[in-house]
Amino acid sequence: MQKLVSKVTDNVNFYMGHSPVELIEKYGSPLYVYNEKILREKMRDMKNLVSYENFAVNYSAKANSSLAILEIASEEDLNIDAMSPGEIFAELKAGFSPEKIFYISNNVSKEEMQYAIDHNITLSIDSISQLEQFGQLNPGGKVAARFNGGVGAGHHEKVITAGKNTKFGIDPDEMDLFKTILKKYDLQLVGINQHIGSLFMKPDKYIDGVYAILEIAKQFENLEFIDLGGGFGIPYNKLDDTYKSLDIKDLGKKLDEIFENFAKEYGKRLKFKVEPGRYIAAECGVLLGTVHAIKNNGNQKYAGTDIGFNVLARPVMYDSHHDIEVYRPSNEKSEKTEPITVVGNICETGDIIAKNRILPTLKEGDIIGILDAGAYGHVMSSNYNNRLRPAEILIRENGEAVMIRKRDSLEDIVKNFISLK
Ligand code: LLP
Repeated sequence: MQKLVSKVTDNVNFYMGHSPVELIEKYGSPLYVYNEKILREKMRDMKNLVSYENFAVNYSAKANSSLAILEIASEEDLNIDAMSPGEIFAELKAGFSPEKIFYISNNVSKEEMQYAIDHNITLSIDSISQLEQFGQLNPGGKVAARFNGGVGAGHHEKVITAGKNTKFGIDPDEMDLFKTILKKYDLQLVGINQHIGSLFMKPDKYIDGVYAILEIAKQFENLEFIDLGGGFGIPYNKLDDTYKSLDIKDLGKKLDEIFENFAKEYGKRLKFKVEPGRYIAAECGVLLGTVHAIKNNGNQKYAGTDIGFNVLARPVMYDSHHDIEVYRPSNEKSEKTEPITVVGNICETGDIIAKNRILPTLKEGDIIGILDAGAYGHVMSSNYNNRLRPAEILIRENGEAVMIRKRDSLEDIVKNFISLK
């Protein structure tokens, strides 16, 4: 096998001696591959973000909720957030105790609230309307609330989750009503949380958001925690030499100072939490796929692969950039590079992974690696076009490659269908 573009994975010894081509041969294409060592490093980065002692990292499971990934998060002693009973169920299965799980609810049914209540899981309420419903279900209970502190940030308007244009959080203008309902049902507000949005590369907005939520926190006595949300960015443009990682040391220093000052003013060293998803899971994952066709249409050259947007939705959904590596099973050389549009196999024109990307001249049978696919990759995959969702492989710290999720089978596609015959 030749590695035609492999700088990023070589630098971090991603495959630990495995060949992407052999992995595809063994487990099928496309294939999600994760590296446990990188995953654990990112978890530890976050755990060491600040020196303030009453601090917890809530891994945001929505980024990657495969059982083995959750089990590693549990082993690393992270806390975890959940967006649904399905995530809670998987987290309990992975070994998280209920007090480590934080259910950040949004427009949930009474049954979903009851599920959290029955499992002793702290639930964050996202609207006055749902606070009232929670009060009816669990009078005298403990609850948290998500506020919209007014500061939002993110890589795309679809993932900005605070500020003026979002469905999330309780507007602080409704504070009086909020407090009235807390009182009406004798609810104890144990924590407040926010999430300003996803993927910031500079700390400024996050810090502005922290100040905003702290102002809200001051209006409540006896909080046990303040959860500042996630959004910590990762550099998706690693092949561009000018890329910059988020300076988490700088961010941690700023947070430490804020936590210390706040604890003094509040008169209690209450717990601070963050909710990283992508920062923890993205860079430990590469999505491998196969080039099945090369063609020209008008002035455009296309590489047709098996990585449709049913397998990786981010490029189509947010115009997201993912770096691409190229591995060639044969010894045939590639003399030049050229712009090529890399597409999937779904019957939609918008099924594009990368537009006009400069890559070595590709040929049928080449294997491509889509980098930073560990977060919001498999979790957002679907069976659109009745396609099979890929298997997931974990390269363990000792170098062994193990399967952590089977590829769908054709039977899986039809198993919930009910025939009229
Ligand atoms: N906390 C809450 C309440 C969230 O809603 C999210 C993400 C996070 C934490 C974690 O955010 P992160 O650290 O991963 O940025 N599918 C999109 C991202 C959507 C994020 C939704 N919420 C993407 O692929 O970019």
